[in-house]
Amino acid sequence: MTDILNTLNVRPMTREALEAHWMPFSANRNYKAKPRLLSRAKGMHYWTPEGRQILDGVAGLWCVNAGHGRTEIAEAVGQSLAQMDFAPPFQMGHPLAFELANRITEIAPAGMDHVFFVNSGSEAVETALKIALQYQRLRGEGTRTRLIGRERGYHGVNFGGMTLGGMPPNRKVWSGVMTAGVDHLSHTHDLARNAFSRGQPEHGANLTSELERLIGLHDASNIAALIVEPVAGSTGVLVPPKGYLQKLREICTKHGILLIFDEVITGFGRTGSAFGAQEFGVTPDIITMAKGLTNGSVPMGAVLVSKEIYDAFMVGPEAAVEMFHGYTYSSHPTACAAGLAVMDIYKRDGLFERVKEMAPYFEDALHSLKGLPGVTDVRNYGLMGAVEYEPFAGKPGARGFDTFVRAFDAGILVRAAGDITALSPPFIVEKSHIDELVEKLGKVIRETKV
Ligand SMILES: Cc1ncc(COP(=O)(O)O)c(C=O)c1O
Repeated sequence: MTDILNTLNVRPMTREALEAHWMPFSANRNYKAKPRLLSRAKGMHYWTPEGRQILDGVAGLWCVNAGHGRTEIAEAVGQSLAQMDFAPPFQMGHPLAFELANRITEIAPAGMDHVFFVNSGSEAVETALKIALQYQRLRGEGTRTRLIGRERGYHGVNFGGMTLGGMPPNRKVWSGVMTAGVDHLSHTHDLARNAFSRGQPEHGANLTSELERLIGLHDASNIAALIVEPVAGSTGVLVPPKGYLQKLREICTKHGILLIFDEVITGFGRTGSAFGAQEFGVTPDIITMAKGLTNGSVPMGAVLVSKEIYDAFMVGPEAAVEMFHGYTYSSHPTACAAGLAVMDIYKRDGLFERVKEMAPYFEDALHSLKGLPGVTDVRNYGLMGAVEYEPFAGKPGARGFDTFVRAFDAGILVRAAGDITALSPPFIVEKSHIDELVEKLGKVIRETKV
């Protein structure tokens, strides 16, 4: 195989060569002193430039659901680029975009049937919030401007999503300029009562009373929307307690508050259904998605809305723009081509069903780590799992990061979320891969120097 590094004259990765790139969400100096480079991927594996094989336990970053190196995606992307590199998305269109929207609605919850394309999960969230606010105005409820999120939620890094998210380090520095009028529900993570739950934990549905409290405080007439992840991913796989999402839906419906599910991680099969909405039997008004939409191959996100919301916008003069929002690269042809190829793969290979098939084995394997030194919790849903540790004294997060680095040295890619190791393998994962992941992670945990 020709190596793109040669084709594009990539210089040797010396310390100096690493300097110019300011890496996102990374400890730049620590990384550049001892880089973890990846240069090739196929199936369940990555390879480093030196040829060391790494088993991918996190689908890249929760996104390569169908596994790496799918030639169908590469071919669709290449053909699409050669045929039409770009088409303006404003007041113009191209067939791939309309087709991809149709394919998404075919697997979406019933009644959710219009799709707005963006380029990332963060943009999907900002777009969803703007849609929610304009929708409330359009239906004559313009006083509804307040938004509600949840602690330990992650909704990307732009201003709306950052404000509604509940991760202190992501918010702290920008606190003074956050979006106004935002409240948070408590998170549902309850180790005292729910540690080592398999699937949905028993305790926590009562936390929804906080939404009722906020409604009492502000009055429903001032609240536009609530945004939650069905399963909070980035803060360490927080599975919704039994009955929790249903109760949120009931309260939102009763008070005219839009319910937004941020399914950037849970979308496209991660829970065993196309969307968490279907898996948990709760239909929101808006769903945000990204990641698995293109199998991580080309940046793309989308916002799915109910017919009721879309129809509310389709008023006024027909030649007037209905929403003054969009991005140069909304519905980019390359991304749409990737998305279409990915939808075909999910369907043809029955990959969402495969998640259901593999989930019990994954669950048992992961829970075998219970009892190892420092392990305070193991939890899972579908092909999402997490192992939580007692933090190193006075150094929150250090143990999770140390585990991640030593796991990489041992040949597996996992994700550190504070003092939690998150796992979310591609859906093509075999039992032998799960065994390897858990065995290597177990060894790393046992060898931890406290
Ligand atoms: C639930 C959720 N929302 C939004 C985002 C932001 O997506 P992006 O990094 O593509 O902007 C993420 C990313 O992990 C996510 O998990």
